[in-house]
Parts: sequence; C-alpha cells; structure tokens
Amino acid sequence: MRRPLIAGNWKMNLDRAGSVALAAGVAARAAEFPKADLVVCPPDVYLAAVAEKVAGSKVGLGAQNMYFEGSGAFTGETSAAMLLDVGCKYVILGHSERRALLGETDAIVLKKTQAALSAGLVPIVCVGETLAEREAGRTHAVIEEQFKGSLASLSEADIAKVVVAYEPVWAIGTGKVATPEQAEEVHLDLRGMLSSRYNAAVSETIRLLYGGSVKASNAAELLKQPNIDGALVGGASLKADEFLGIAAAA
Ligand code: PGA
Repeated sequence: MRRPLIAGNWKMNLDRAGSVALAAGVAARAAEFPKADLVVCPPDVYLAAVAEKVAGSKVGLGAQNMYFEGSGAFTGETSAAMLLDVGCKYVILGHSERRALLGETDAIVLKKTQAALSAGLVPIVCVGETLAEREAGRTHAVIEEQFKGSLASLSEADIAKVVVAYEPVWAIGTGKVATPEQAEEVHLDLRGMLSSRYNAAVSETIRLLYGGSVKASNAAELLKQPNIDGALVGGASLKADEFLGIAAAA
C-alpha cells in the first residue's frame, strides 16, 4: 500500500513570522492524521526557522528547488547537502514555474534529481502539460517526454525513492482543477511508463501526487482515485486549516 503524501508548496509567499506561524499551525495538529505523510516546503530563507517549528512533529520539511552541484562558485544556488543540513528531507524539482520561467529543462531536472538522491533527499519531481498541449491532444506525448528526460535514466534503486507529481500547468493557481478522471488517466499512464521502463513492482511502489488547485473541498474525490497517492498543494497550503483539510481527505 502506498502511503498518502500531502506536500505544501508555499512558493515565494509569506514572511518569516507568517512562515513560522503556519508551520506551527500545521505541526500542532499533524498527529490527527496518522495515515498521511505531511510535508511543508517554505522559501529557502525560512527553512531553518520552519525546521525549528516542525521538529518533533510528524511534519517533514522540504525545499522548492536546489542545484545539482555539491559546492563551489554557483552564486545564489543551494546544494542538497545544505538542504539536509537545515533539516530537509524532501525537495520539489522541475516545478512547471521553474521550467517555464527559469529555463529548467528535463536534463537539468534529471541532474538535480540524481544529486538529491545521492545526498539522501526525497525528490518530488513535477511533470505536466500546458493547456495548449492538452487541447492539441499531446498530453501523453508531453508527459512521456518529461518522464524520459527527467526520470527514466535513473537506476531502478533510485527511481523507487522518487515521488512524482502530475501538475497540469493549466490547473496551477487557476482554480481550474483537473477532474478526478483526467488526473487518474495521467497517473495511470505514468504507472504504465514506470512499468515498461522498470517493472510492475517499481510502478506499484512509487507515489504519484496530483497538483493544481487542490483544496480541502475537492481533495477527497481526487485522492479517492486508485492511482492518486497524495497532493502537491500551492495556494491552499498557505492556510493551516485548509492544508489540514486536505490531509483529512487523505
Ligand atoms: P496551486 O499550486 O495548488 O496553487 O494550484 C500547485 C503547485 O504549483 O504545486
């Protein structure tokens, strides 16, 4: 059985006090949801402050990005070791905002994923099609290309440690959530890709999250789908009650 994972991607929001308060709010009630793993991903500069608040709770800490090099002259970047050092267990990689706005390619996402894994972080690797791609009937092709470029070169031992998030770009921050059927269809497709590249056991083990306008009121029907193992939540993760409402649905 795959254990549900609900991850909050705070993006570039909140200040220090707001981050600490939100982390405290989530940590205070996290024990009410023993069946799900909960993760919060604050901006890097607040990781340490949030780490203090979630310490001793079941809430895991994640970053929203990292660089693939170990150390050196990479101005402005953060390494996997640094994330581990401040208490991270997870890192979101290849988010569509980074792919679209910051030039992140599948090849870069792959290198980051490999670096995260060799450092011992759990990568949450994002894939997803744009509206134009969906309307052109290219959803499968786009997901397959992202899968091949950012994941399929990993060893079997490595891929088993990865979490994959399907986030249709048209559903992110738009309030336009994918229907449970649309999401399930892509998740099933991803399982098929995992199974043909690796094997059925790998495909059955890996947690596949859905992301894109998930909130407490629509989480249950999404999470009820057999191949949706959790959620990557943006806007709705910025309020403890709303985020925990999603955890309750899991
Ligand atoms: P959203 O963002 O929940 O605000 O749509 C999801 C994400 O980008 O991870």
